[in-house]
Amino acid sequence: MVRPCTTVILAMSVDGKIADVARSPARFGSPTDKRHLEEQVAQMDAVLFGAGTLRAYGTTLRVTSADLLQQRQEQQKPPQPIQIVCSRSGKFDPQLRFFQQPVPRWLITTPTGANTWEDRQAFERILTTEASPNFNWTKVLETLFDANIKQLAVLGGGELVASLLAVDAIDQVYLTICPLVLGGRTAPTLVAGDGFAEAFAPRLELLGVRSLDQEVFLHYRIRHV
Ligand SMILES: NC(=O)c1ccc[n+]([C@@H]2O[C@H](COP(=O)([O-])OP(=O)(O)OC[C@H]3O[C@@H](n4cnc5c(N)ncnc54)[C@H](OP(=O)(O)O)[C@@H]3O)[C@@H](O)[C@H]2O)c1
Repeated sequence: MVRPCTTVILAMSVDGKIADVARSPARFGSPTDKRHLEEQVAQMDAVLFGAGTLRAYGTTLRVTSADLLQQRQEQQKPPQPIQIVCSRSGKFDPQLRFFQQPVPRWLITTPTGANTWEDRQAFERILTTEASPNFNWTKVLETLFDANIKQLAVLGGGELVASLLAVDAIDQVYLTICPLVLGGRTAPTLVAGDGFAEAFAPRLELLGVRSLDQEVFLHYRIRHV
């Protein structure tokens, strides 16, 4: 499959939750974790996230540090990676602060989801695809690659990560383990979806581990089947 190199970047609690049961925005990472996230995002041509993540945060993470903006300029990249939302329904509030942020915005949605947004200026580009129930990620990722997106970050949430893992479309994972326990049966985890039987579970290779203050920074490569 021709597709961008895809990297998941997420923070989780010690018990593997990426948010609390209220699905609040995850703000439990330290300033060091935020910098780590910004450094990774600064390497990317685009970042992709699910509508659930957009609804929870209402904003996206922009590259704002002077050294990282300078680095992007030296690499002849535009100041900000493209921010790509994926949503079957296309239902989220046009008043979200995300739509005022000075970033390029794209939407991946169904033809029905696109109806709401086609006449607005909110998205520079809308890619439509059928969802049954997931998008045809092979096709979508090929389209992104053809649009010169070679490095793609996936910033959550669990549903999006699950569907990309299911089609073997994730290459690397950066995970930050933060020193808190969130618990709760319905609190989201790194990977939602139907789950994998152990025999068929994606396998990872640990590329790096670093502990800084109270957090552990893990870097994995997915072993492709
Ligand atoms: N700790 C962290 O680093 C971190 C990072 C990001 C998010 N989070 C947390 O994660 C939670 C959100 O996660 P989530 O699992 O609920 O949501 P999600 O994956 O962000 O979004 C789910 C929604 O995105 C769309 N979507 C996702 N995958 C799709 C696919 N394969 N095909 C078509 N559409 C797809 C659908 O949108 P529609 O409903 O519009 O059809 C779906 O309902 C929030 O609580 C947030 O705080 C934590």
